[in-house]
Amino acid sequence: MIATMSERARLREMITGFRLSAALNVAADLAISDHLADGPRTPEALAEVAGADPDTLHRLLHALATVGVYEERPDGTYATTALGDGLRSDVPGTLRPLARTLNSPALWAAYGNLGHSVRTGENAFRATHGVDAWTWRAGHPAENEIFNQNMTALTSVIAGAVAQSYDFSALSTVVDVGGGQGLLLETVLGRYPHLVGTVFDLDHVVARRPASAELAPRWRSVSGSFFERVPEADGYLVKSILHDWPDEECVRILKGCRRGMSPGGVVLVVERLLDRPADEAETAFSDLNMLVMPGGRERSEQQYAVLLEAAGLRLARVIDTPSPMAILEARESA
Ligand SMILES: C[S@@+](CC[C@H](N)C(=O)[O-])C[C@H]1O[C@@H](n2cnc3c(N)ncnc32)[C@H](O)[C@@H]1O
Repeated sequence: MIATMSERARLREMITGFRLSAALNVAADLAISDHLADGPRTPEALAEVAGADPDTLHRLLHALATVGVYEERPDGTYATTALGDGLRSDVPGTLRPLARTLNSPALWAAYGNLGHSVRTGENAFRATHGVDAWTWRAGHPAENEIFNQNMTALTSVIAGAVAQSYDFSALSTVVDVGGGQGLLLETVLGRYPHLVGTVFDLDHVVARRPASAELAPRWRSVSGSFFERVPEADGYLVKSILHDWPDEECVRILKGCRRGMSPGGVVLVVERLLDRPADEAETAFSDLNMLVMPGGRERSEQQYAVLLEAAGLRLARVIDTPSPMAILEARESA
């Protein structure tokens, strides 16, 4: 006997968890929660507006209703719930883009090779597709777009916490390294009216202008690779970048920041930390995601300190924020 019946059921649920991920992906892709925002609808009406087969969509809705994402009503209509609302496009911090990132046979194929990664230590995505995830997305604009939307949505719920937890008043210029759509930079610039900021990312990713037009006079957009050079600045924001890469590449990125940094400048690494028990499961599974997709890893404070030292920087302090992310402030080694 492996366990009690309830433990067995729990384990079984874990094993088949991919079915739920797949169902949520399709519901998000069909924008079911958006279509339910104004009230309940029949599966037929939803199928019409979402462009789906009515009977099959009904099966999907029924399955998602059993786990509380939607509610099946006695009159045969479906309504969204508090969980289902999280898949609406218009809610702050929407998880719709996250669910839509699974709309990628390339991702599922890479996850199918997690075992290969564990046996060999290799990055599953590259082993499966022959290129890294960034190069692959450059050739798949729709998936690139969803990935970027997802990063913005995930960053939107922590950007305020980062901006309020660090005092940027001593800096004049800041570069958001691998800043994508620039939301973190916008949040920091919004809080510090004296700051000038640059969002730096790959050409097919970088935001050309800020979402808020009033920040435009203090906003620069530069494209390029952080393995070649990063724009000069007093401060660098490096959020959710180092966890994408193996140690050697992290040191190259950090050395680039150190070279570009004005005297007395700072590198602010913003990451989850492995040694924060409150957030352990999320960070541990993010670590597996880094292994499978970009080929990086989550790290502890101590592991980041070692990387910084190898790049000629020292970890000056670690600032916990009211979010799952910490800020590691690095300065030039003495
Ligand atoms: C996990 S995302 C983080 C985005 C953003 N910092 C955030 O937290 O929302 C990683 C970012 O690194 C960028 N990136 C990947 N390789 C890069 C390179 N060689 N040079 C510059 N940016 C790169 C990606 O385009 C992506 O925007």
